[in-house]
This record gives sequence, C-alpha cells and structure tokens, in this order.
Amino acid sequence: MGGLDSKVVVVTGGSSGIGRATAIALAAEGASVAIGGRKAEALEEVAAEIKAHGSGCVFRVMDVRDEAQVVALVDAAVDEFGRLDIMVNNAGVSYQGPIADGNVEQWREMLETNVLALLVGCREAIRVMKSNDPQGGHIVNISSNAARQTGATGQVYSATKHAVNAISDGLRQEVHDLGIRVTVVMPGATLTNFGRTLPQEVLNSAARALGMDPEDEGIRQGEYLPQEGVDRVLRERPGTFLAADDLARAVAYAVLQPASVHVDEILVRPSVGISLGG
Ligand SMILES: NC(=O)c1ccc[n+]([C@@H]2O[C@H](COP(=O)([O-])OP(=O)(O)OC[C@H]3O[C@@H](n4cnc5c(N)ncnc54)[C@H](OP(=O)(O)O)[C@@H]3O)[C@@H](O)[C@H]2O)c1
Repeated sequence: MGGLDSKVVVVTGGSSGIGRATAIALAAEGASVAIGGRKAEALEEVAAEIKAHGSGCVFRVMDVRDEAQVVALVDAAVDEFGRLDIMVNNAGVSYQGPIADGNVEQWREMLETNVLALLVGCREAIRVMKSNDPQGGHIVNISSNAARQTGATGQVYSATKHAVNAISDGLRQEVHDLGIRVTVVMPGATLTNFGRTLPQEVLNSAARALGMDPEDEGIRQGEYLPQEGVDRVLRERPGTFLAADDLARAVAYAVLQPASVHVDEILVRPSVGISLGG
C-alpha cells in the first residue's frame, strides 16, 4: 500500500532527469502515471520500469510547446485512468549566455517550454481537477534556484523561473477554493541531462572538471549523459550536485501531505556546490 494508491499523476518531461525520477517515485507510492516527453525510447524505458513495479503508466511522445499536445497528455491520463490528481509541470530547457549575444530562437524555446507550456499544464489540470469528486488536486511546478538568484545559468532562463514562481503564487490564490494545492519546487544544480544544450566546448571543460574524459565517456551536445558517468560523479563527489532522486523525494513530500497541510515552496540545493545555480 502506498500513500498515492488510486491517485493519477501527469508528469511533463518524464523521459529524463527530475521528471523521470518523480514519475517513478510517485508510481512507487501507488499512483498511476502519464508521462510526456520528446524521446520515445526513454519514455518507453520509464513506462516499463513503472509497470514492472506494478503501477499503471501511459506515455505520449509530445512537444509541450504545442498546446494541443499538452491537452492530449492530460486527456490520455483521464482516458486511461479515469481522473487526474497531481499535475507535475516539469519539462524545461536552459540556454546560457549574455543578453548582448542573445539568440531569439533560444529565448523563444525557453519562454514557450518553461512558461507557456506550464501555464497550459496548469489550465488543463484545473479543468479536470474541478470535476474530481471530491473536487481538488495538486499542481507541482518545477522552478529553479535561479528564481532566487540571477546570473549563474543565464538571465533569460532565470527570468522564466521567476515567472514560474509568480504564476504559482497567483494560481495558489486562484484555485484555493477549488481544493487545488499549488507547490513550487526549486532545484539547485542537479546532475541530469539538463546541460545538453551547452556548447560542446563548455560540456568538455565541465566534464574534465568533474574528472571525466568527455570523449571516453561519450558526452555529446544534445544527447543524454551516460548514466554510468552520472552515477560515478554523484558517488565520488557527494554534495557537488543533487541527484534527480533528491528532487523526486521533494515532490513526493509535498504531494503526500494530508489535505490540511499546504506546502507552498521547496528549495533544494546541493550541500557543497551551494553557489551553483540551476
Ligand atoms: N538540472 C538542474 O540543475 C536543474 C536546476 C533547476 C531547475 N531545473 C528544472 O528541472 C526541470 C527538469 O529538468 P532536468 O534537470 O530533469 O533536465 P533534463 O534531464 O534535460 O529533463 C528535461 C525534461 O524536459 C523534457 N522537455 C524539454 N523540452 C521539451 C519539450 N519541448 N516538449 C516535451 N518535453 C520537453 C525533456 O524531454 P526529452 O528528454 O524527451 O527531450 C526531459 O524529459 C526543468 O524545468 C529545469 O528547468 C533543473
């Protein structure tokens, strides 16, 4: 028996990193899960892992920048499992660099993925949660330590996460009477596939600083990091980065609270690399 038996969860960006770990952690508490992401193979693996442990999982290969595809992901959860209790708006991207050298396409991708898609996810969650009996649910928006400090990860990315916090604060008041809770989770630097948008030379020097040979390890721009290398860095340099599981536990903490408890915000940072943004 888990704390989320008979609950239904949607996680955007469930193919990788924090979203993947969250989907698996909430499924381990008994929830049925619908996950969305762009990489079919990765989604299939997450779904297989969840099902192997006895929980329901559906996935959709989708782009959160397309409103209709976010709507379809929420509808898939309802069609498959009959309701929606927890919406985790997690999908996000980051491009670094000064505004003076800014690339509008990268700004657009960050704004559409981190802000607009999250807004659509909130709207769709409310649409379904209003008809739950009893009415209510929980929306978890994945923000960032960068909502508290600017600079380390780029001003535009940071601005998108400030927006996530502002949206969540306003939404919390808007949906309070509907019995919907809104939690913001702000990760600090977490070793996921988030850095894949960095230029190859930046990836190479970051890898070397962590004692990894980028060529031997197969670290390539745009691609997932080899899990073996991630596990080794987390094991050998504790506290430098958070693991995706550390954030999954934060999400689980918020959604497992009794209805009498509202967790507004959780900020989680690595104990050593505490000045790193994310
Ligand atoms: N890692 C950090 O240090 C850190 C720190 C603070 C906040 N965060 C936040 O944590 C969240 C998760 O990031 P992560 O660290 O887990 O990174 P990640 O490993 O790169 O995972 C990001 C997820 O978002 C999905 N995604 C991105 N763009 C998408 C799109 N257009 N349509 C559908 N899915 C999309 C990815 O899907 P595919 O892989 O299938 O493409 C992936 O599942 C983000 O909101 C990020 O801003 C991360």
